[in-house]
Amino acid sequence: MASEKPLAAVTCTAPVNIAVIKYWGKRDEELVLPINSSLSVTLHQDQLKTTTTAVISKDFTEDRIWLNGREEDVGQPRLQACLREIRRLARKRRNAWDGDPLPSSLSCKVHVASVNNFPTAAGLASSAAGYACLAYTLARVYGVESDLSEVARQGSGSACRSLYGGFVEWQMGEQTDGKDSIARQVAPESHWPELRVLILVVSAEKKLTGSTAGMRASVETSPLLRFRAESVVPARMAEMTRCIQERDFPGFAQLTMKDSNQFHATCLDTFPPISYLSAVSWRIIHLVHRFNAHHGDTKVAYTFDAGPNAVIFTLDDTVAEFVAAVRHSFPPGSNGDAFLKGLQVRPAPLSAELQAALAMEPTTPGGVKYIIATQVGPGPQILDNPCAHLLGPDGLPKPAA
Ligand code: DP6
Repeated sequence: MASEKPLAAVTCTAPVNIAVIKYWGKRDEELVLPINSSLSVTLHQDQLKTTTTAVISKDFTEDRIWLNGREEDVGQPRLQACLREIRRLARKRRNAWDGDPLPSSLSCKVHVASVNNFPTAAGLASSAAGYACLAYTLARVYGVESDLSEVARQGSGSACRSLYGGFVEWQMGEQTDGKDSIARQVAPESHWPELRVLILVVSAEKKLTGSTAGMRASVETSPLLRFRAESVVPARMAEMTRCIQERDFPGFAQLTMKDSNQFHATCLDTFPPISYLSAVSWRIIHLVHRFNAHHGDTKVAYTFDAGPNAVIFTLDDTVAEFVAAVRHSFPPGSNGDAFLKGLQVRPAPLSAELQAALAMEPTTPGGVKYIIATQVGPGPQILDNPCAHLLGPDGLPKPAA
Protein backbone atom coordinates (compact mmCIF):
# COMPACT_ATOMS: atom_id res chain seq x y z
CA MET A 1 0.00 0.00 0.00
CA ALA A 2 1.27 3.46 -0.88
CA SER A 3 2.62 5.45 2.03
CA GLU A 4 3.70 8.68 0.35
CA LYS A 5 1.47 11.19 -1.37
CA PRO A 6 1.33 10.49 -5.12
CA LEU A 7 3.54 12.77 -7.25
CA ALA A 8 0.64 13.55 -9.52
CA ALA A 9 -2.93 12.50 -10.27
CA VAL A 10 -4.72 13.64 -13.40
CA THR A 11 -8.17 12.85 -14.78
CA CYS A 12 -9.23 13.62 -18.34
CA THR A 13 -12.06 12.74 -20.71
CA ALA A 14 -11.93 12.08 -24.45
CA PRO A 15 -14.53 11.69 -27.19
CA VAL A 16 -15.55 9.05 -29.69
CA ASN A 17 -15.08 9.93 -33.37
CA ILE A 18 -16.80 8.57 -36.45
CA ALA A 19 -14.99 8.56 -39.79
CA VAL A 20 -16.70 9.95 -42.88
CA ILE A 21 -13.63 9.09 -44.99
CA LYS A 22 -12.55 5.74 -43.61
CA TYR A 23 -9.14 4.55 -42.47
CA TRP A 24 -8.67 0.93 -43.54
CA GLY A 25 -5.21 -0.56 -44.01
CA LYS A 26 -1.74 0.01 -42.58
CA ARG A 27 1.52 0.44 -44.45
CA ASP A 28 3.45 -0.07 -41.21
CA GLU A 29 1.84 -2.22 -38.53
CA GLU A 30 4.42 -1.43 -35.86
CA LEU A 31 4.10 2.36 -36.05
CA VAL A 32 0.42 2.22 -37.11
CA LEU A 33 0.88 4.19 -40.32
CA PRO A 34 -2.15 4.12 -42.66
CA ILE A 35 -2.30 3.56 -46.42
CA ASN A 36 -4.68 6.52 -46.79
CA SER A 37 -5.68 9.71 -45.00
CA SER A 38 -9.04 9.78 -43.20
CA LEU A 39 -11.47 12.36 -41.85
CA SER A 40 -13.86 12.16 -38.91
CA VAL A 41 -16.46 13.95 -36.86
CA THR A 42 -15.88 14.13 -33.10
CA LEU A 43 -19.01 13.20 -31.15
CA HIS A 44 -20.16 15.07 -28.05
CA GLN A 45 -18.91 13.81 -24.70
CA ASP A 46 -22.25 14.50 -23.02
CA GLN A 47 -23.39 11.27 -24.67
CA LEU A 48 -20.21 9.25 -25.32
CA LYS A 49 -16.89 9.57 -23.56
CA THR A 50 -14.02 7.80 -21.88
CA THR A 51 -12.76 9.07 -18.52
CA THR A 52 -9.22 8.17 -17.48
CA THR A 53 -7.22 8.80 -14.32
CA ALA A 54 -3.45 8.37 -14.19
CA VAL A 55 -1.55 8.47 -10.90
CA ILE A 56 2.24 8.34 -10.52
CA SER A 57 3.97 7.65 -7.26
CA LYS A 58 7.43 6.64 -6.09
CA ASP A 59 5.72 3.91 -4.08
CA PHE A 60 4.30 2.02 -7.06
CA THR A 61 6.33 -1.04 -7.95
CA GLU A 62 4.72 -1.73 -11.35
CA ASP A 63 2.51 -0.13 -14.01
CA ARG A 64 -1.12 -1.23 -13.58
CA ILE A 65 -4.36 -0.61 -15.45
CA TRP A 66 -8.06 -1.05 -14.69
CA LEU A 67 -10.65 -0.87 -17.50
CA ASN A 68 -14.27 -0.42 -16.49
CA GLY A 69 -13.39 -1.56 -12.99
CA ARG A 70 -11.45 -4.72 -13.94
CA GLU A 71 -7.70 -5.01 -13.79
CA GLU A 72 -6.23 -5.82 -17.23
CA ASP A 73 -2.86 -7.03 -18.44
CA VAL A 74 -0.60 -3.99 -18.69
CA GLY A 75 1.83 -6.00 -20.84
CA GLN A 76 -0.52 -5.78 -23.82
CA PRO A 77 1.64 -4.55 -26.76
CA ARG A 78 -0.46 -1.50 -27.70
CA LEU A 79 -0.61 -0.28 -24.14
CA GLN A 80 3.13 -0.80 -23.83
CA ALA A 81 3.68 1.17 -27.05
CA CYS A 82 1.73 4.16 -25.63
CA LEU A 83 3.58 4.08 -22.31
CA ARG A 84 6.94 3.78 -24.06
CA GLU A 85 6.16 6.70 -26.42
CA ILE A 86 4.99 9.01 -23.61
CA ARG A 87 8.06 8.27 -21.52
CA ARG A 88 10.29 8.83 -24.55
CA LEU A 89 8.66 12.23 -25.18
CA ALA A 90 8.93 13.12 -21.47
CA ARG A 91 12.63 12.20 -21.47
CA LYS A 92 13.19 14.29 -24.59
CA ARG A 93 11.53 17.28 -22.96
CA ARG A 94 13.47 16.85 -19.72
CA ASN A 95 16.76 16.65 -21.58
CA ALA A 96 15.87 19.95 -23.22
CA TRP A 97 15.61 21.57 -19.74
CA ASP A 98 18.93 22.48 -18.24
CA GLY A 99 19.47 21.31 -14.71
CA ASP A 100 16.38 19.09 -14.62
CA PRO A 101 14.11 21.09 -12.29
CA LEU A 102 11.27 18.63 -12.91
CA PRO A 103 10.56 15.96 -10.30
CA SER A 104 11.82 12.55 -11.25
CA SER A 105 8.40 11.45 -12.43
CA LEU A 106 10.01 9.47 -15.21
CA SER A 107 11.33 6.83 -12.89
CA CYS A 108 7.85 6.40 -11.37
CA LYS A 109 5.41 3.65 -12.25
CA VAL A 110 1.91 4.66 -13.23
CA HIS A 111 -1.53 3.40 -12.27
CA VAL A 112 -4.31 4.01 -14.80
CA ALA A 113 -8.08 3.55 -14.52
CA SER A 114 -10.45 4.12 -17.39
CA VAL A 115 -14.24 3.93 -17.77
CA ASN A 116 -16.64 4.46 -20.67
CA ASN A 117 -20.08 5.97 -20.22
CA PHE A 118 -21.36 3.64 -22.95
CA PRO A 119 -21.22 -0.15 -23.43
CA THR A 120 -17.71 -1.12 -24.59
CA ALA A 121 -18.88 -4.06 -26.62
CA ALA A 122 -21.52 -2.09 -28.53
CA GLY A 123 -19.08 -1.50 -31.35
CA LEU A 124 -19.01 2.22 -30.69
CA ALA A 125 -15.33 2.91 -31.35
CA SER A 126 -14.43 2.65 -27.69
CA SER A 127 -10.77 2.02 -28.53
CA ALA A 128 -10.44 5.43 -30.21
CA ALA A 129 -11.78 7.32 -27.19
CA GLY A 130 -9.88 5.01 -24.84
CA TYR A 131 -6.43 5.44 -26.38
CA ALA A 132 -6.91 9.17 -27.03
CA CYS A 133 -7.81 9.56 -23.37
CA LEU A 134 -4.86 7.46 -22.28
CA ALA A 135 -2.41 9.50 -24.39
CA TYR A 136 -3.89 12.81 -23.23
CA THR A 137 -3.93 11.86 -19.54
CA LEU A 138 -0.43 10.34 -19.53
CA ALA A 139 0.87 13.45 -21.30
CA ARG A 140 -0.51 15.66 -18.51
CA VAL A 141 0.81 13.48 -15.74
CA TYR A 142 4.32 13.21 -17.25
CA GLY A 143 4.42 16.85 -18.41
CA VAL A 144 4.51 16.19 -22.16
CA GLU A 145 3.35 19.07 -24.36
CA SER A 146 4.16 17.89 -27.88
CA ASP A 147 1.73 16.55 -30.50
CA LEU A 148 0.20 13.32 -29.22
CA SER A 149 -0.82 11.81 -32.57
CA GLU A 150 1.99 9.28 -32.50
CA VAL A 151 1.16 8.18 -28.96
CA ALA A 152 -2.59 7.73 -29.50
CA ARG A 153 -2.06 6.23 -32.97
CA GLN A 154 0.08 3.41 -31.62
CA GLY A 155 -2.79 2.44 -29.33
CA SER A 156 -5.33 2.45 -32.14
CA GLY A 157 -5.00 4.29 -35.45
CA SER A 158 -8.35 6.05 -35.30
CA ALA A 159 -7.56 7.26 -31.74
CA CYS A 160 -5.38 10.11 -33.03
CA ARG A 161 -8.53 11.72 -34.50
CA SER A 162 -10.14 11.77 -31.02
CA LEU A 163 -7.45 14.21 -29.81
CA TYR A 164 -9.40 17.12 -31.31
CA GLY A 165 -12.98 18.32 -31.35
CA GLY A 166 -15.08 19.20 -34.38
CA PHE A 167 -13.96 17.85 -37.74
CA VAL A 168 -10.57 16.16 -37.83
CA GLU A 169 -8.31 14.77 -40.53
CA TRP A 170 -5.57 12.22 -40.04
CA GLN A 171 -2.95 12.96 -42.67
CA MET A 172 -1.37 9.67 -43.72
CA GLY A 173 2.09 11.26 -44.09
CA GLU A 174 4.95 9.98 -46.23
CA GLN A 175 7.89 9.50 -43.88
CA THR A 176 8.88 6.02 -42.81
CA ASP A 177 9.29 7.13 -39.18
CA GLY A 178 5.66 8.37 -39.14
CA LYS A 179 6.54 11.84 -37.87
CA ASP A 180 4.23 13.41 -40.47
CA SER A 181 1.33 10.99 -39.86
CA ILE A 182 -0.66 13.34 -37.65
CA ALA A 183 -4.18 14.41 -36.78
CA ARG A 184 -5.26 18.01 -37.40
CA GLN A 185 -8.50 19.89 -36.85
CA VAL A 186 -10.27 20.86 -40.09
CA ALA A 187 -13.05 22.87 -38.37
CA PRO A 188 -14.01 23.40 -34.71
CA GLU A 189 -17.13 21.95 -33.06
CA SER A 190 -18.92 25.30 -33.28
CA HIS A 191 -18.59 25.34 -37.08
CA TRP A 192 -21.79 23.48 -38.01
CA PRO A 193 -24.25 23.74 -35.09
CA GLU A 194 -27.20 22.26 -36.99
CA LEU A 195 -25.46 18.92 -37.59
CA ARG A 196 -26.94 16.02 -35.61
CA VAL A 197 -25.75 12.45 -35.16
CA LEU A 198 -27.90 9.41 -34.39
CA ILE A 199 -26.31 6.11 -33.42
CA LEU A 200 -28.62 3.23 -34.24
CA VAL A 201 -27.42 0.38 -32.02
CA VAL A 202 -28.23 -2.80 -33.89
CA SER A 203 -26.17 -5.28 -31.99
CA ALA A 204 -24.18 -5.10 -28.80
CA GLU A 205 -22.33 -8.30 -29.62
CA LYS A 206 -18.58 -8.43 -30.06
CA LYS A 207 -17.60 -8.36 -33.72
CA LEU A 208 -16.42 -11.46 -35.58
CA THR A 209 -13.34 -9.88 -37.19
CA GLY A 210 -11.52 -7.12 -35.30
CA SER A 211 -10.38 -4.11 -37.33
CA THR A 212 -6.67 -4.86 -36.93
CA ALA A 213 -6.95 -8.41 -38.35
CA GLY A 214 -9.56 -7.29 -40.89
CA MET A 215 -7.46 -4.51 -42.36
CA ARG A 216 -4.37 -6.71 -42.46
CA ALA A 217 -6.30 -9.26 -44.54
CA SER A 218 -7.63 -6.50 -46.82
CA VAL A 219 -4.14 -5.05 -47.39
CA GLU A 220 -2.86 -8.52 -48.29
CA THR A 221 -5.65 -9.58 -50.64
CA SER A 222 -7.88 -6.73 -51.89
CA PRO A 223 -6.94 -5.02 -55.15
CA LEU A 224 -9.93 -2.71 -54.61
CA LEU A 225 -8.41 -1.45 -51.35
CA ARG A 226 -5.18 -0.51 -53.11
CA PHE A 227 -7.14 1.29 -55.84
CA ARG A 228 -9.19 3.09 -53.19
CA ALA A 229 -6.14 4.27 -51.26
CA GLU A 230 -4.21 5.43 -54.31
CA SER A 231 -6.88 6.72 -56.66
CA VAL A 232 -10.06 7.50 -54.70
CA VAL A 233 -9.29 8.80 -51.22
CA PRO A 234 -7.01 11.76 -52.09
CA ALA A 235 -9.77 13.51 -54.10
CA ARG A 236 -12.40 12.55 -51.52
CA MET A 237 -10.37 14.12 -48.69
CA ALA A 238 -10.31 17.41 -50.59
CA GLU A 239 -14.00 17.20 -51.48
CA MET A 240 -15.05 16.30 -47.92
CA THR A 241 -13.03 19.21 -46.54
CA ARG A 242 -14.81 21.55 -48.96
CA CYS A 243 -18.27 20.18 -48.01
CA ILE A 244 -17.50 20.74 -44.33
CA GLN A 245 -16.05 24.20 -44.82
CA GLU A 246 -19.09 25.27 -46.89
CA ARG A 247 -21.57 23.36 -44.70
CA ASP A 248 -22.83 21.66 -47.87
CA PHE A 249 -25.01 18.96 -46.28
CA PRO A 250 -26.08 17.06 -49.44
CA GLY A 251 -22.45 16.93 -50.61
CA PHE A 252 -21.22 15.85 -47.16
CA ALA A 253 -23.99 13.24 -46.86
CA GLN A 254 -23.50 11.67 -50.28
CA LEU A 255 -19.75 11.38 -49.91
CA THR A 256 -20.13 9.94 -46.40
CA MET A 257 -22.45 7.19 -47.69
CA LYS A 258 -20.27 6.44 -50.73
CA ASP A 259 -17.16 6.16 -48.63
CA SER A 260 -18.84 3.85 -46.11
CA ASN A 261 -20.08 1.70 -49.00
CA GLN A 262 -16.63 1.57 -50.59
CA PHE A 263 -15.05 0.54 -47.29
CA HIS A 264 -17.55 -2.33 -46.99
CA ALA A 265 -16.91 -3.22 -50.64
CA THR A 266 -13.20 -3.59 -49.86
CA CYS A 267 -14.19 -5.91 -47.01
CA LEU A 268 -16.14 -8.07 -49.44
CA ASP A 269 -13.19 -7.90 -51.87
CA THR A 270 -10.94 -9.28 -49.12
CA PHE A 271 -10.27 -13.01 -49.40
CA PRO A 272 -11.75 -14.77 -47.47
CA PRO A 273 -14.40 -12.02 -47.45
CA ILE A 274 -15.27 -9.95 -44.39
CA SER A 275 -18.82 -8.81 -43.78
CA TYR A 276 -19.73 -6.34 -41.06
CA LEU A 277 -23.24 -5.35 -42.16
CA SER A 278 -26.26 -7.31 -40.96
CA ALA A 279 -29.72 -7.61 -42.51
CA VAL A 280 -30.84 -4.79 -40.20
CA SER A 281 -27.92 -2.61 -41.39
CA TRP A 282 -29.09 -3.12 -44.97
CA ARG A 283 -32.65 -2.20 -44.05
CA ILE A 284 -31.32 1.03 -42.54
CA ILE A 285 -29.45 1.74 -45.79
CA HIS A 286 -32.67 1.28 -47.79
CA LEU A 287 -34.63 3.37 -45.30
CA VAL A 288 -32.22 6.29 -45.69
CA HIS A 289 -32.28 6.17 -49.49
CA ARG A 290 -36.08 5.99 -49.59
CA PHE A 291 -36.38 8.80 -47.06
CA ASN A 292 -34.12 10.96 -49.22
CA ALA A 293 -35.93 9.98 -52.44
CA HIS A 294 -39.26 10.93 -50.86
CA HIS A 295 -37.88 14.40 -50.08
CA GLY A 296 -36.15 14.71 -53.45
CA ASP A 297 -33.08 15.82 -51.50
CA THR A 298 -30.24 14.22 -49.52
CA LYS A 299 -31.40 14.94 -45.98
CA VAL A 300 -29.88 11.97 -44.16
CA ALA A 301 -26.65 9.95 -44.47
CA TYR A 302 -25.50 6.65 -42.96
CA THR A 303 -22.05 5.33 -42.23
CA PHE A 304 -20.95 1.98 -40.78
CA ASP A 305 -17.61 1.00 -39.22
CA ALA A 306 -16.42 -2.53 -38.54
CA GLY A 307 -19.81 -3.63 -37.19
CA PRO A 308 -23.54 -3.52 -37.94
CA ASN A 309 -24.43 -0.32 -36.01
CA ALA A 310 -25.41 2.66 -38.15
CA VAL A 311 -24.29 6.21 -37.52
CA ILE A 312 -26.69 8.68 -39.10
CA PHE A 313 -25.94 12.31 -39.95
CA THR A 314 -28.73 14.79 -40.48
CA LEU A 315 -29.64 18.41 -39.67
CA ASP A 316 -31.69 19.45 -36.64
CA ASP A 317 -34.82 20.20 -38.73
CA THR A 318 -34.94 16.58 -39.97
CA VAL A 319 -34.11 14.60 -36.81
CA ALA A 320 -37.67 14.23 -35.49
CA GLU A 321 -39.12 12.99 -38.78
CA PHE A 322 -36.28 10.55 -39.35
CA VAL A 323 -36.58 9.13 -35.82
CA ALA A 324 -40.32 8.62 -36.48
CA ALA A 325 -39.40 6.71 -39.66
CA VAL A 326 -36.94 4.52 -37.72
CA ARG A 327 -39.52 3.85 -35.00
CA HIS A 328 -42.02 2.83 -37.66
CA SER A 329 -39.64 0.51 -39.54
CA PHE A 330 -37.91 -0.89 -36.44
CA PRO A 331 -40.47 -0.96 -33.64
CA PRO A 332 -38.83 -0.81 -30.20
CA GLY A 333 -38.65 -4.01 -28.17
CA SER A 334 -39.77 -4.04 -24.56
CA ASN A 335 -37.73 -0.88 -23.86
CA GLY A 336 -40.24 1.49 -25.53
CA ASP A 337 -39.45 4.49 -23.35
CA ALA A 338 -35.67 3.90 -23.24
CA PHE A 339 -35.49 3.59 -27.05
CA LEU A 340 -34.16 7.11 -27.52
CA LYS A 341 -31.22 8.23 -25.38
CA GLY A 342 -29.17 11.42 -25.40
CA LEU A 343 -30.40 14.69 -26.88
CA GLN A 344 -34.12 15.36 -26.69
CA VAL A 345 -36.03 14.73 -29.89
CA ARG A 346 -39.62 15.96 -30.00
CA PRO A 347 -42.10 13.28 -31.10
CA ALA A 348 -43.22 13.83 -34.70
CA PRO A 349 -45.95 12.16 -36.71
CA LEU A 350 -45.08 10.06 -39.75
CA SER A 351 -47.08 11.22 -42.76
CA ALA A 352 -49.00 8.61 -44.73
CA GLU A 353 -47.03 9.69 -47.83
CA LEU A 354 -43.66 9.09 -46.18
CA GLN A 355 -44.85 5.79 -44.73
CA ALA A 356 -45.91 4.67 -48.21
CA ALA A 357 -42.62 5.89 -49.71
CA LEU A 358 -40.62 3.85 -47.20
CA ALA A 359 -42.40 0.74 -48.53
CA MET A 360 -41.23 -1.28 -45.53
CA GLU A 361 -43.10 -3.69 -43.36
CA PRO A 362 -41.99 -3.09 -39.76
CA THR A 363 -39.46 -5.68 -38.55
CA THR A 364 -40.05 -7.81 -35.49
CA PRO A 365 -39.54 -5.54 -32.46
CA GLY A 366 -35.99 -4.85 -31.31
CA GLY A 367 -34.15 -4.89 -34.69
CA VAL A 368 -32.73 -1.52 -33.67
CA LYS A 369 -32.09 -1.85 -29.93
CA TYR A 370 -31.86 1.85 -29.16
CA ILE A 371 -30.86 5.21 -30.60
CA ILE A 372 -28.33 7.63 -29.11
CA ALA A 373 -28.96 11.20 -30.30
CA THR A 374 -25.88 13.41 -30.15
CA GLN A 375 -24.01 16.18 -31.95
CA VAL A 376 -20.52 17.37 -32.83
CA GLY A 377 -18.41 17.95 -29.74
CA PRO A 378 -15.10 19.18 -28.33
CA GLY A 379 -11.81 17.36 -27.88
CA PRO A 380 -10.31 15.93 -24.66
CA GLN A 381 -10.83 17.83 -21.41
CA ILE A 382 -8.99 17.93 -18.08
CA LEU A 383 -11.21 17.54 -15.03
CA ASP A 384 -9.97 19.80 -12.24
CA ASN A 385 -12.15 18.45 -9.46
CA PRO A 386 -10.22 15.82 -7.45
CA CYS A 387 -13.54 14.06 -6.80
CA ALA A 388 -13.44 13.06 -10.47
CA HIS A 389 -10.37 10.85 -9.93
CA LEU A 390 -11.12 7.17 -10.51
CA LEU A 391 -8.14 6.19 -8.34
CA GLY A 392 -7.71 7.07 -4.68
CA PRO A 393 -4.52 8.52 -3.14
CA ASP A 394 -3.35 4.92 -2.62
CA GLY A 395 -3.48 4.46 -6.41
CA LEU A 396 -6.23 1.86 -6.28
CA PRO A 397 -9.71 2.15 -7.84
CA LYS A 398 -12.15 4.05 -5.65
CA PRO A 399 -15.13 1.91 -4.73
CA ALA A 400 -17.97 2.68 -7.15
CA ALA A 401 -20.34 5.26 -5.66
C1 DP6 B 1 -13.60 1.04 -39.79
O1 DP6 B 1 -8.46 2.43 -35.43
O2 DP6 B 1 -9.83 0.45 -34.69
O3 DP6 B 1 -13.50 2.35 -37.80
O4 DP6 B 1 -5.47 0.95 -35.89
O5 DP6 B 1 -5.93 -1.48 -35.98
O6 DP6 B 1 -6.59 -0.17 -33.96
P1 DP6 B 1 -6.38 -0.16 -35.47
O7 DP6 B 1 -7.79 0.08 -36.11
P2 DP6 B 1 -8.97 1.07 -35.73
O8 DP6 B 1 -9.75 1.06 -37.13
C2 DP6 B 1 -10.85 1.84 -37.38
C3 DP6 B 1 -11.45 1.45 -38.67
C4 DP6 B 1 -12.80 2.05 -38.98
C5 DP6 B 1 -12.64 3.30 -39.85
C6 DP6 B 1 -12.16 4.57 -39.17
O9 DP6 B 1 -12.45 4.79 -37.99
O10 DP6 B 1 -11.54 5.36 -39.89
